[in-house]
Amino acid sequence: INIILLGPPGAGKGTQARTLVEERGLVQLSTGDMLREARSSGTEMGRVVADVMDRGQLVTDEIVIGLIREKLDTVDAPGFIFDGFPRTLPQADALEELLSGMGRRIDAVIEMRVDDEALVDRISGRYTCGSCGEVYHDRTKPTAKEGSCDVCGSTDLRRRADDNAESLKTRLMEYYKKTSPLVGYYYAKKTLAPVDGMASMEEVGTQVAAIMDGLG
Ligand code: AP5
Ligand code: ZN
Repeated sequence: INIILLGPPGAGKGTQARTLVEERGLVQLSTGDMLREARSSGTEMGRVVADVMDRGQLVTDEIVIGLIREKLDTVDAPGFIFDGFPRTLPQADALEELLSGMGRRIDAVIEMRVDDEALVDRISGRYTCGSCGEVYHDRTKPTAKEGSCDVCGSTDLRRRADDNAESLKTRLMEYYKKTSPLVGYYYAKKTLAPVDGMASMEEVGTQVAAIMDGLG
Protein backbone atom coordinates (compact mmCIF):
# COMPACT_ATOMS: atom_id res chain seq x y z
CA ILE A 1 0.00 0.00 0.00
CA ASN A 2 1.30 3.43 -0.97
CA ILE A 3 -0.32 6.61 0.24
CA ILE A 4 0.19 10.34 -0.01
CA LEU A 5 -0.41 12.74 2.89
CA LEU A 6 -1.52 15.99 1.29
CA GLY A 7 -2.14 19.19 3.21
CA PRO A 8 -0.85 22.68 4.03
CA PRO A 9 2.12 23.36 6.32
CA GLY A 10 1.22 22.36 9.87
CA ALA A 11 -1.77 20.22 8.85
CA GLY A 12 -0.38 17.26 10.81
CA LYS A 13 1.16 15.18 8.01
CA GLY A 14 4.33 14.35 9.92
CA THR A 15 2.37 13.56 13.09
CA GLN A 16 0.09 11.06 11.32
CA ALA A 17 2.94 9.59 9.29
CA ARG A 18 4.75 8.61 12.49
CA THR A 19 1.70 6.69 13.71
CA LEU A 20 1.38 4.86 10.38
CA VAL A 21 5.04 3.89 10.49
CA GLU A 22 4.66 2.50 14.02
CA GLU A 23 1.37 0.72 13.51
CA ARG A 24 1.57 -0.48 9.92
CA GLY A 25 5.25 -0.87 9.15
CA LEU A 26 5.15 1.51 6.21
CA VAL A 27 8.16 3.65 5.35
CA GLN A 28 7.82 7.44 5.54
CA LEU A 29 9.36 9.42 2.71
CA SER A 30 9.35 13.10 3.70
CA THR A 31 11.04 15.41 1.21
CA GLY A 32 11.16 18.12 3.92
CA ASP A 33 13.16 15.78 6.19
CA MET A 34 15.44 14.75 3.31
CA LEU A 35 16.15 18.39 2.45
CA ARG A 36 16.84 19.29 6.11
CA GLU A 37 19.19 16.31 6.34
CA ALA A 38 21.04 17.49 3.23
CA ARG A 39 21.41 20.90 4.87
CA SER A 40 22.71 19.66 8.18
CA SER A 41 25.20 17.31 6.55
CA GLY A 42 26.50 20.26 4.54
CA THR A 43 26.14 18.77 1.07
CA GLU A 44 26.29 20.98 -2.03
CA MET A 45 22.56 20.48 -2.56
CA GLY A 46 21.89 21.39 1.06
CA ARG A 47 23.66 24.72 0.56
CA VAL A 48 21.68 25.42 -2.60
CA VAL A 49 18.28 24.82 -0.99
CA ALA A 50 18.85 26.44 2.43
CA ASP A 51 17.77 30.00 1.52
CA VAL A 52 14.81 28.83 -0.51
CA MET A 53 13.51 26.73 2.39
CA ASP A 54 14.03 29.43 5.02
CA ARG A 55 12.05 31.86 2.90
CA GLY A 56 9.26 29.30 2.64
CA GLN A 57 9.43 28.81 -1.12
CA LEU A 58 9.36 25.47 -2.91
CA VAL A 59 12.62 23.82 -3.92
CA THR A 60 12.85 22.92 -7.64
CA ASP A 61 10.97 19.88 -8.93
CA GLU A 62 14.24 18.49 -10.29
CA ILE A 63 15.85 18.33 -6.84
CA VAL A 64 12.94 16.77 -4.96
CA ILE A 65 12.09 14.28 -7.71
CA GLY A 66 15.76 13.26 -7.66
CA LEU A 67 15.58 12.66 -3.90
CA ILE A 68 12.46 10.52 -4.19
CA ARG A 69 13.85 8.54 -7.12
CA GLU A 70 16.95 7.71 -5.14
CA LYS A 71 14.89 6.46 -2.16
CA LEU A 72 12.58 4.35 -4.31
CA ASP A 73 15.64 2.80 -5.96
CA THR A 74 17.32 1.90 -2.68
CA VAL A 75 14.70 1.39 0.04
CA ASP A 76 12.82 -1.87 0.21
CA ALA A 77 9.41 -1.50 1.86
CA PRO A 78 5.94 -3.07 1.91
CA GLY A 79 4.59 0.39 1.22
CA PHE A 80 5.44 4.07 1.33
CA ILE A 81 3.90 7.13 2.93
CA PHE A 82 4.71 10.16 0.82
CA ASP A 83 4.75 13.10 3.25
CA GLY A 84 5.06 16.55 1.67
CA PHE A 85 5.55 15.09 -1.80
CA PRO A 86 4.26 15.62 -4.46
CA ARG A 87 3.70 19.37 -4.12
CA THR A 88 3.31 20.34 -7.79
CA LEU A 89 1.64 18.78 -10.83
CA PRO A 90 4.99 17.84 -12.45
CA GLN A 91 5.99 16.10 -9.18
CA ALA A 92 2.70 14.17 -9.21
CA ASP A 93 3.29 13.02 -12.79
CA ALA A 94 6.87 12.03 -11.98
CA LEU A 95 5.73 10.00 -8.96
CA GLU A 96 3.17 8.13 -10.99
CA GLU A 97 5.78 7.28 -13.59
CA LEU A 98 8.34 6.14 -11.01
CA LEU A 99 5.82 3.92 -9.23
CA SER A 100 4.40 2.37 -12.38
CA GLY A 101 7.95 1.46 -13.38
CA MET A 102 8.06 -0.58 -10.17
CA GLY A 103 4.62 -2.13 -10.72
CA ARG A 104 3.20 -0.03 -7.87
CA ARG A 105 0.59 2.68 -7.60
CA ILE A 106 -0.87 5.25 -5.21
CA ASP A 107 -3.75 3.63 -3.33
CA ALA A 108 -5.02 6.72 -1.51
CA VAL A 109 -4.31 10.42 -1.18
CA ILE A 110 -5.27 11.51 2.32
CA GLU A 111 -6.11 15.19 2.19
CA MET A 112 -5.87 16.89 5.59
CA ARG A 113 -8.10 19.96 5.73
CA VAL A 114 -7.19 22.61 8.30
CA ASP A 115 -8.08 26.34 8.55
CA ASP A 116 -5.30 28.88 8.11
CA GLU A 117 -5.75 30.25 11.64
CA ALA A 118 -5.19 26.83 13.17
CA LEU A 119 -2.14 26.31 10.95
CA VAL A 120 -0.51 29.48 12.28
CA ASP A 121 -1.10 28.29 15.85
CA ARG A 122 0.26 24.81 15.15
CA ILE A 123 3.37 26.02 13.37
CA SER A 124 4.22 28.69 15.94
CA GLY A 125 4.01 26.20 18.82
CA ARG A 126 5.81 23.30 17.17
CA TYR A 127 9.15 21.81 18.24
CA THR A 128 10.69 18.47 17.39
CA CYS A 129 13.20 16.07 18.88
CA GLY A 130 16.44 16.33 16.89
CA SER A 131 17.31 12.78 17.82
CA CYS A 132 14.18 10.65 17.16
CA GLY A 133 11.99 13.14 15.26
CA GLU A 134 9.02 13.13 17.67
CA VAL A 135 6.82 16.20 17.05
CA TYR A 136 5.61 18.35 19.98
CA HIS A 137 3.55 21.50 20.50
CA ASP A 138 3.87 24.09 23.30
CA ARG A 139 0.20 23.89 24.20
CA THR A 140 -1.41 20.80 22.67
CA LYS A 141 1.44 18.31 23.07
CA PRO A 142 4.23 19.45 25.37
CA THR A 143 6.93 17.06 26.58
CA ALA A 144 6.05 15.52 29.97
CA LYS A 145 9.34 16.74 31.44
CA GLU A 146 10.45 20.16 30.28
CA GLY A 147 13.49 20.07 28.01
CA SER A 148 13.68 16.36 27.22
CA CYS A 149 11.99 14.10 24.69
CA ASP A 150 9.37 11.68 26.08
CA VAL A 151 10.29 9.02 23.54
CA CYS A 152 14.08 8.92 23.63
CA GLY A 153 15.13 11.25 26.46
CA SER A 154 17.23 13.48 24.22
CA THR A 155 17.57 17.14 25.27
CA ASP A 156 18.08 18.19 21.63
CA LEU A 157 14.66 19.81 21.13
CA ARG A 158 14.55 22.12 18.11
CA ARG A 159 12.42 24.72 16.37
CA ARG A 160 12.59 24.98 12.58
CA ALA A 161 14.12 28.04 10.91
CA ASP A 162 11.09 28.35 8.61
CA ASP A 163 8.53 28.22 11.44
CA ASN A 164 8.11 31.99 11.71
CA ALA A 165 5.21 34.23 10.69
CA GLU A 166 6.95 35.64 7.60
CA SER A 167 8.00 32.30 6.06
CA LEU A 168 4.69 30.74 6.97
CA LYS A 169 2.86 33.36 4.90
CA THR A 170 4.96 32.37 1.89
CA ARG A 171 4.54 28.64 2.60
CA LEU A 172 0.76 29.02 2.65
CA MET A 173 0.80 31.03 -0.61
CA GLU A 174 2.96 28.38 -2.23
CA TYR A 175 0.57 25.70 -1.02
CA TYR A 176 -2.57 27.34 -2.41
CA LYS A 177 -0.92 28.31 -5.72
CA LYS A 178 1.11 25.22 -6.55
CA THR A 179 0.03 22.31 -4.35
CA SER A 180 -3.74 22.65 -3.92
CA PRO A 181 -4.35 21.87 -7.66
CA LEU A 182 -3.35 18.33 -6.70
CA VAL A 183 -6.66 17.98 -4.85
CA GLY A 184 -8.50 18.10 -8.19
CA TYR A 185 -5.85 15.98 -9.86
CA TYR A 186 -6.31 13.10 -7.40
CA TYR A 187 -10.06 13.58 -7.16
CA ALA A 188 -10.18 12.92 -10.91
CA LYS A 189 -8.12 9.77 -10.38
CA LYS A 190 -10.57 8.64 -7.67
CA THR A 191 -7.86 8.30 -5.04
CA LEU A 192 -8.71 11.37 -2.93
CA ALA A 193 -9.75 10.69 0.68
CA PRO A 194 -10.37 13.85 2.73
CA VAL A 195 -10.10 13.91 6.53
CA ASP A 196 -11.10 16.63 8.99
CA GLY A 197 -7.66 17.82 10.06
CA MET A 198 -9.21 20.25 12.58
CA ALA A 199 -10.06 17.36 14.90
CA SER A 200 -7.73 16.20 17.68
CA MET A 201 -4.62 14.17 16.79
CA GLU A 202 -6.33 10.99 18.02
CA GLU A 203 -9.51 11.63 16.04
CA VAL A 204 -7.57 12.39 12.88
CA GLY A 205 -5.66 9.16 13.51
CA THR A 206 -8.95 7.26 13.70
CA GLN A 207 -10.13 8.76 10.40
CA VAL A 208 -6.82 7.88 8.73
CA ALA A 209 -6.95 4.34 10.13
CA ALA A 210 -10.46 3.86 8.70
CA ILE A 211 -9.22 4.88 5.25
CA MET A 212 -6.24 2.52 5.51
CA ASP A 213 -8.45 -0.37 6.64
CA GLY A 214 -10.76 0.27 3.70
CA LEU A 215 -7.85 -0.29 1.33
CA GLY A 216 -7.61 -3.87 2.57
P1 AP5 B 1 8.00 20.20 4.99
O1 AP5 B 1 9.01 19.75 5.94
O2 AP5 B 1 7.29 19.22 4.14
O3 AP5 B 1 6.99 21.14 5.76
P2 AP5 B 1 5.43 21.44 5.57
O4 AP5 B 1 4.70 20.86 4.42
O5 AP5 B 1 5.39 22.91 5.69
O6 AP5 B 1 4.78 20.65 6.68
P3 AP5 B 1 5.13 20.71 8.15
O7 AP5 B 1 6.22 19.74 8.47
O8 AP5 B 1 5.35 22.13 8.55
O9 AP5 B 1 3.74 20.29 8.81
P4 AP5 B 1 3.05 18.89 9.04
O10 AP5 B 1 1.82 18.84 8.20
O11 AP5 B 1 4.00 17.75 8.93
O12 AP5 B 1 2.58 19.10 10.56
P5 AP5 B 1 3.09 18.42 11.92
O13 AP5 B 1 2.65 17.02 11.99
O14 AP5 B 1 4.52 18.73 12.16
O15 AP5 B 1 8.66 21.25 3.97
C1 AP5 B 1 9.54 22.26 4.41
C2 AP5 B 1 10.13 22.99 3.19
O16 AP5 B 1 10.91 22.06 2.41
C3 AP5 B 1 9.12 23.57 2.18
O17 AP5 B 1 8.67 24.85 2.58
C4 AP5 B 1 9.97 23.58 0.89
O18 AP5 B 1 10.86 24.67 0.90
C5 AP5 B 1 10.76 22.29 1.01
N1 AP5 B 1 10.07 21.12 0.40
C6 AP5 B 1 9.69 19.99 1.04
N2 AP5 B 1 9.10 19.13 0.19
C7 AP5 B 1 9.10 19.74 -1.03
C8 AP5 B 1 8.60 19.37 -2.31
N3 AP5 B 1 7.98 18.20 -2.52
N4 AP5 B 1 8.75 20.26 -3.35
C9 AP5 B 1 9.37 21.44 -3.17
N5 AP5 B 1 9.87 21.85 -1.97
C10 AP5 B 1 9.73 21.01 -0.91
O19 AP5 B 1 2.18 19.26 12.96
C11 AP5 B 1 2.37 20.64 13.17
C12 AP5 B 1 2.12 20.98 14.66
O20 AP5 B 1 0.75 20.79 14.96
C13 AP5 B 1 2.90 20.11 15.65
O21 AP5 B 1 3.32 20.90 16.73
C14 AP5 B 1 1.87 19.05 16.09
O22 AP5 B 1 2.13 18.59 17.40
C15 AP5 B 1 0.57 19.81 15.98
N6 AP5 B 1 -0.58 18.98 15.56
C16 AP5 B 1 -0.59 17.99 14.62
N7 AP5 B 1 -1.83 17.49 14.47
C17 AP5 B 1 -2.64 18.18 15.33
C18 AP5 B 1 -4.04 18.13 15.63
N8 AP5 B 1 -4.89 17.26 15.01
N9 AP5 B 1 -4.53 18.99 16.55
C19 AP5 B 1 -3.71 19.89 17.17
N10 AP5 B 1 -2.38 19.97 16.94
C20 AP5 B 1 -1.84 19.15 16.02
ZN1 ZN C 1 13.31 11.91 20.87
